[in-house]
Amino acid sequence: KHTIYITRHGQSEYNLVGKLGGNPPLTEAGKEYARRLAKFAEENVCKDDAGNVRRARLWTSSLQRTILTAEHIPHPIVCDGWQQMATRVYRNLDEIFAGECEGLTYAEIEKLHGSEASLRKMDKIGYRYPRGESYFDLIARLDPLVHELESYEEPVMVISHQAVMRILYSYLVGIDRERAPKLEIPLHTVVKITYDAYNECGFTEERFYLGP
Ligand code: G3H
Repeated sequence: KHTIYITRHGQSEYNLVGKLGGNPPLTEAGKEYARRLAKFAEENVCKDDAGNVRRARLWTSSLQRTILTAEHIPHPIVCDGWQQMATRVYRNLDEIFAGECEGLTYAEIEKLHGSEASLRKMDKIGYRYPRGESYFDLIARLDPLVHELESYEEPVMVISHQAVMRILYSYLVGIDRERAPKLEIPLHTVVKITYDAYNECGFTEERFYLGP
């Protein structure tokens, strides 16, 4: 059995106003999610089904909204002489980079860069923001991480961003990558994926909405 927990960061100041990218802090609701996520991690990720403390890994992006979402998770606890929640910050887990459109809302992109908005509608996976990234670029930078993720026996909790989660989730549960950029990944929800030889899909998926 191999278990991966993936979640977006708690609600950010930009989520509230619909702006893309940037490096905003969390809102009060986002901070509350961080506290609830810590409790969830302590009770689920850091313990096995029998309630015994176990080693786990915690990955965040390099942006403050994922690091702040992880801040209450007790990663320095030592278990068997080993840091219980071995933590890594990966730039490769950062949100898709919108280049010249960073910090804009979709309405502002339509207004200021109308042709860019229609190009993206035609080919969301292949479209590259001016001086930014495309979903194909994102897939390429996530590729080494996916292999690393699958190589660990201990559970891994990944705190990242919507576009990144679309790609990771689709890879883990076998959704065609053409469909991935259009998946809706809700805030304040942990998706648990367990590789399960006894299940005919090869995995089991559970979702935990923690609110608020
Ligand atoms: O802020 C970026 C979004 O998570 C990516 O969403 O690819 O649907 O524009 P989008």
